[in-house]
Amino acid sequence: MPSNISNEAPSEMNSPTATSAKPDMLISILARMTMEEKIGQMSQYFGHGEPISEHLVQSIRQGRVGSVINEVRLHTVNELQRLAVEESRLGIPLLIGRDVIHGFNTIFPIPLGQAASWCAETVKQCAHISALEAATAGVNWTFAPMIDISRDPRWGRIAESLGEDPYLCSVLGVAMLQGFQGDELRKNGSIAACAKHFAGYGAGESGRDYSTTNIPENELRNVYLPPFKAAADAGVATFMSAFSDLNGVPASGNKWLMTEILREEWDYKGFVVSDWESIQQLTTHGFSKDNKNAAYEASNSGIDMEMVSSTYLDHLPELIAEGRIDIQQIDSAVNKILQLKWQLGLFDSPYTDASLLPTPLNSQHLQIAKDAAIKSCVLLKNDKNILPLSTESLHCVAIIGPLADDPYEQLGTWIFDGDSQHSQTCLTAIEQELSGKANINYVKTMETSRSYDQTNFKQAVESAAAADVALLILGEESILSGEAHCRAEIGLPGCQEQLIDRIAATGTPIVLVIMAGRPLTIETVLPKVAAVLFAWHPGTMGGPAISDLLFGKAFPSGKLPVTFPRKIGQVPIYYAQKHSGKPATEAAFVHMDDIPVHSPQTSLGMAATHLDTHFSPLFPFGFGLAYTQFSYRNLELSHTTLHIGETLTVRVLLTNTGDTDGEEIAQLYIRDLVGSVTRPVKELKDFKRIKLAAGTSKWVTFELSTDKLAFYDRNMQLKTETGQFHLWLGGCSQSGMQGEFEITDD
Ligand code: BGC
Repeated sequence: MPSNISNEAPSEMNSPTATSAKPDMLISILARMTMEEKIGQMSQYFGHGEPISEHLVQSIRQGRVGSVINEVRLHTVNELQRLAVEESRLGIPLLIGRDVIHGFNTIFPIPLGQAASWCAETVKQCAHISALEAATAGVNWTFAPMIDISRDPRWGRIAESLGEDPYLCSVLGVAMLQGFQGDELRKNGSIAACAKHFAGYGAGESGRDYSTTNIPENELRNVYLPPFKAAADAGVATFMSAFSDLNGVPASGNKWLMTEILREEWDYKGFVVSDWESIQQLTTHGFSKDNKNAAYEASNSGIDMEMVSSTYLDHLPELIAEGRIDIQQIDSAVNKILQLKWQLGLFDSPYTDASLLPTPLNSQHLQIAKDAAIKSCVLLKNDKNILPLSTESLHCVAIIGPLADDPYEQLGTWIFDGDSQHSQTCLTAIEQELSGKANINYVKTMETSRSYDQTNFKQAVESAAAADVALLILGEESILSGEAHCRAEIGLPGCQEQLIDRIAATGTPIVLVIMAGRPLTIETVLPKVAAVLFAWHPGTMGGPAISDLLFGKAFPSGKLPVTFPRKIGQVPIYYAQKHSGKPATEAAFVHMDDIPVHSPQTSLGMAATHLDTHFSPLFPFGFGLAYTQFSYRNLELSHTTLHIGETLTVRVLLTNTGDTDGEEIAQLYIRDLVGSVTRPVKELKDFKRIKLAAGTSKWVTFELSTDKLAFYDRNMQLKTETGQFHLWLGGCSQSGMQGEFEITDD
């Protein structure tokens, strides 16, 4: 470790080895801090690469830096820490932040893909390994989980989300933060997590990133806030404010959100970081007239640390001097930041010794990445059980498409530290699988998923015509989703659909594997293909995972964490919609093609439908096929009536009625028939992953406490209301055995 070379004002804190920090020592540090040092702790700098800029060196020495973002070269990170602990007056170590979103060096499926696993344990494991690997680079803080409810597939960041449902997102968001933070933050390999983006960021108008959100308070509380409340209750170390404007007040200056809800209502003790320059952007929003007022609004609302922009450093001293910002507010922010540093053990061990941690990309990490990718894939269609493919009856397989052998594109968005040279592609995995068993005709056909060049179509058609089956590996390149990568149309880009047409014309059955960062509108594609496996962006081990699924070494078990629309015009479309006064029904639905010419003006079926597409989604939330079938029988409810505070036990006999093993995700939904505010037609309340061997059965039991039925009423009070409830237990949001019960106060 570097030696202590400059100690202008010796104190007990300026050497990391001097003593162990304790919370009361934090109070003493706080008492000795100058105003500039305090504001420094509230400021996060951008790393700017190597060599470390003189500005950053000096700023750290002067105690003007609380955190550095995006520096992951270990020797540089250790040098930054050395500057902080040995050359700044008070020796306060740094938070080193990085977006570790779905892996560090080993890349797991994108979060939306992980959500399709409906497996908290898998999500937790992926985050745990991501933390272990990130910690080898000295990273001690990640900006994940992103728990924005995402109901608009046009939004590029849906890829980074855990889907559309508040319950699923809460369970998996908590699993993810627990994976990052471990059971103790100070343990080697645990890193602090960040619940983002508080709040409503996923509801941007027309699915454009950063755009305005208008979310009534009742909906905000019932839909958008629950995952954040769950994360706060589970001890997430930090929160991040959203870029977006929420009902006229941008989140990064929104005191109601940051103070009244988060601190006063939820009693959250961690700190809030702004998003990247989002404080400065308060002026762009037209909310603050200049950076000084932006700093005022942000600090006053409860943003404790500023990411990258410098309005705090530049203006807080003046605002404090003018008495506009209370010093206690500054102390409270700094105290929380110091607390986290202490909890992470940084006062004792600011430096990273990577040799104490497992080597990134080791075989165990890769195996877990493969298992996660297997669990994430969703089988959307499987005509005549074409899948799994039997190697015994295959002589020749055509592998076609721009994503079949592209190590980079399968990784997905937010992979700063992932290196595609470690990716295992579908082509290489299938070549290994079929070696000595069947021939492969590979034609990449299109350079990218966006290409309109059909030059190689002829070759692809010939290769398909000569094969027993055509495996088309298509979808979206990773750059088409993620931050600021939104789409107005969400079909297969480029001329991929024309490629499908041409291959379909050969008569060779098509198995379509789609890699994408969002749901795609593939209604017109479905009739042309025999099977569809939706793989999201599956990560480093995507190839072997997909190959195992295609050839029956593994079985598909993922279920959709988000509704797939038929057409983009249906968006927003999600299963937990409200009923409306004229709900869509089959009887009421009229397609425009069936309206007689010169019909008199009527309101037709008078229902909440479109004229040019069916009102149902293409694939509903919770949907996913297996290689076997599951039946649900003998639904039993412990009560027909119960009182508030009691628990309903629900059980069902689940049978694997097919002849292969499988894993089912049993989903429990309810509908509260009458509420003081209208309730969704269905709400997920619980789920379980159950492995069942072919031909076997198992009772699946859920305990549904009446607390789980609570919602925010008209007065924004969280309450369970008495009345009638419907309940469904099945393998998807649109199927299942139905029961009913009543909550009474008699
Ligand atoms: C994103 C955040 C991210 C931050 C730091 C922003 O642009 O919105 O989610 O954590 O950058 O990279």
